[in-house]
Amino acid sequence: MALWGGRFSQESSALFKLFNDSLPVDFRLIEQDIVGSIAWASAITQVGILTEQECSELHQALNELLGETIDNPQLIIASGAEDIHSFVEQSLIAKVGDLGKKLHTGRSRNDQVATDLKLWCKKEGNQLLGLLTKLRAALIDLAERELDAVMPGYTHLQRAQPVVFGHWCLAYVEMFERDISRLQDALKRADTCPLGTGALAGTAYPMDRVKLAQSLGFAAPTLNSLDTVSDRDHVIELCSDASISMMHLSRMAEDLIFFNSGEAGFIDLDDQVTSGSSLMPQKKNPDALELIRGKTGRVYGSLMGILTTMKALPLAYNKDMQEDKEGLFDVMDSWSICLEMAALVLTGLTVNRDKTLSAAKQGYANSTELADYLVAKGMPFREAHHVVGEAVVSAIAKQTPLEDLSLEELQAFSPVIGADVYECLTIESCLAKREALGGTSLPQVKSALAVKQQG
Ligand code: ARG
Repeated sequence: MALWGGRFSQESSALFKLFNDSLPVDFRLIEQDIVGSIAWASAITQVGILTEQECSELHQALNELLGETIDNPQLIIASGAEDIHSFVEQSLIAKVGDLGKKLHTGRSRNDQVATDLKLWCKKEGNQLLGLLTKLRAALIDLAERELDAVMPGYTHLQRAQPVVFGHWCLAYVEMFERDISRLQDALKRADTCPLGTGALAGTAYPMDRVKLAQSLGFAAPTLNSLDTVSDRDHVIELCSDASISMMHLSRMAEDLIFFNSGEAGFIDLDDQVTSGSSLMPQKKNPDALELIRGKTGRVYGSLMGILTTMKALPLAYNKDMQEDKEGLFDVMDSWSICLEMAALVLTGLTVNRDKTLSAAKQGYANSTELADYLVAKGMPFREAHHVVGEAVVSAIAKQTPLEDLSLEELQAFSPVIGADVYECLTIESCLAKREALGGTSLPQVKSALAVKQQG
């Protein structure tokens, strides 16, 4: 039976019930709904609605219900209740009779669902923080294992300048650290308690909302009832933080898919995170990485979904907002599993150092060094850039790297070039020069890694 039957003389149509019920989605809020109800029972006891005895009876029944349902979602869904709040109230009445009917005094499903959802966001957000931290640790371990493997760095997917593999790993550490701080920030804003704001205008009972908020582990109560029941910023923020983080995961996946390609052959992926082809026996496909890249799309979709749902909604609660949960749950599930999967991929990843080194030596990745060499000999950089461009064209025509051109051949482009040029064209020299903070010289990368390992 619905919670609101008194005003109605006809039953809902079967189609409306199917359309309107949210239990198949919001059953996941069972723990939060019960925990919130336990706190509410105490709050209404303090304003004289329930006796201490009634309150403890309700607490006991609610705890019992939690034990019966927490690992049994099928039991919840099979009840056919309208939503998780109706399910909990109906189950409570079934357990304790008329006393159960007192629990909703002064409360609305509007402040109740807002509370449940914020509690869920806080719990899930904290789990995500743990997974982001684990992924960060996996990247730091990989950086340590493969720190000095030399590989080409790319711009426009053209070999640009050599870098070390540890530098690539630490680039993603920076990104996931920003994701962690963004999520922490969002969780701070989500840490206000909606309970006790009623349907929209505030509850009619003079309860201590500060105490109520504390009892549920919130930092403070919300301050405006109209805003409280119509606010889903925390859902949007989590979807947005997840989208940015998935963008990082997807870029990392894409880099690794490319590194793993037959053409590059820079890395080997563990058998555990790859799959074969049903037809082509030689294939070992980077499915885990492709799925990380692929799932990014559905996360962005949910962000667009909730932003669009909330756009232009008048104050205060509207049923449109029931659409908030399906996308959020999917976002947090997708984000979690992608973080875990990415960490597993990194754990079993090895670098083929001969391949990365020989690729770094090709593609004229040391051209900038030759230009800097000419600058050191007194040539203005723009002119040096032009001279080296000509030398590269000629080397390409001869199908040889710059360092294999003879001194005479090089001097044809500029007489200032001397025998010391070869020294500066080596990979070691290219790397060693990038010693300013944030560069890819080995000492820089080692000290960056040491900082990350400390915290
Ligand atoms: N199932 C609803 C939701 O998720 C709960 C709130 C219902 N409130 C209402 N006034 N109909 O949004």
